[in-house]
Amino acid sequence: MDLKIDVKTTGISAAEIEKTRTKAYAAQDRLWAGKDDFTGWVKLPMNYDKDELEDVIAASYKIQEQCDLLIVIGIGGSYLGARAAIEALPAYSGKYPRVRFAGNNISGTYHSLLLEEMQRSETCLCVISKSGTTTEPSVAFAILKDALISKYGKAEASNRIYAITDREKGVLREEASREGYKSFIVPDDIGGRYSVLTPVGLLPIAAAGIDVRAMLSGAEAMMSSPKWDKDAVDYACARFLLMESGKSIEVIEYYEPQLQYFAEWLKQLFGESEGKEGKGLFPASLSFSADLHSMGQFLQEGSRVFFETVLNVEKPDRDIKVPESAGSLLAGKSMNEVNQAAVNGVIAAHRNAGLPVIKIDIPEMTAFCFGQMVYFFEMTSAVTGLMMGVNPFDQPGVESYKAEMRRELNKNG
Ligand code: PA5
Repeated sequence: MDLKIDVKTTGISAAEIEKTRTKAYAAQDRLWAGKDDFTGWVKLPMNYDKDELEDVIAASYKIQEQCDLLIVIGIGGSYLGARAAIEALPAYSGKYPRVRFAGNNISGTYHSLLLEEMQRSETCLCVISKSGTTTEPSVAFAILKDALISKYGKAEASNRIYAITDREKGVLREEASREGYKSFIVPDDIGGRYSVLTPVGLLPIAAAGIDVRAMLSGAEAMMSSPKWDKDAVDYACARFLLMESGKSIEVIEYYEPQLQYFAEWLKQLFGESEGKEGKGLFPASLSFSADLHSMGQFLQEGSRVFFETVLNVEKPDRDIKVPESAGSLLAGKSMNEVNQAAVNGVIAAHRNAGLPVIKIDIPEMTAFCFGQMVYFFEMTSAVTGLMMGVNPFDQPGVESYKAEMRRELNKNG
């Protein structure tokens, strides 16, 4: 049930990868040594707090009883991991709350529609912010909390608010303690984009009916597999060598629409970890086969600034037989077989055009595989960042925009 990575179709020789491995292994050793800040995620799958996990699962059961609509408020690393899992692993039974996301934009229209949905639904809020001061979730939380209080009264509203934030610092921690919200901690040594397997991701994911124990087991299996070591290193080496050869964009492509937010999470992980000091690969994503009919032209014949990373689900959840009426080329095949023909056909066409392609086969979309994927990509991103010579765990650029936005708001009174 392992991910399979194929870097042979990148045009980079095995000898070149071999030569670069020493650098990648040095980066990995440094991560395992745990001397740098924000490397708590490296050993998390084997040393997470078991009591805290049980507490998270108990809170998720309570949310499932309390509501049919869970609104998760957060942005960036405080939201994308949960959304990636919830969209990739849909609970089909309908017995779990619908999950909506707020505070990841500042649109009055978007949030007005959410307020309307809230009026029609039994609602809980899960507000997530490590700093507790980020503008987007602060605005959304203030609005949604007011609506929750109007709907249920203050005491019951507090019973329906779940907060995940810093252990001690920040207004959200103060408010959670004052108002008695059930709360969880964002660990000090784990940054937002590496926090999916902490309560930040686990509480909303569990509330959506996904097996978070299996997810953590997947991450642990990935962490302790010797084969994985080589695969993550090969992928990191290929990315590093492609960047050195002049490629500046990694196009992440997926053929299952349920991976849309996984690709968004990956974009954040790679972009925020590596894009600094004038370095880094710009991560983009495309949804196939839809985007083959638009961006497919650019990929095939446009400027050669990119390489591709294909996320291929080998055994999708469901399948449908194509009826005879579809014509002899398609009749009798299943939709997934046609989709696989697209995967292989596109890779062949792009290879013929000289494009470097990395293929990652995901056995199936289960919570276990999702946990494997999270750990695999976290490790790849950190290793590549260190190979590039940047600190993969800070985000000074994001902090500058937050500060400038606050200045603008102050200017306008
Ligand atoms: O990965 C990160 O650190 C960022 O994307 C943050 O998660 C994001 O800016 C939100 O910050 P906070 O959780 O403090 O609200």
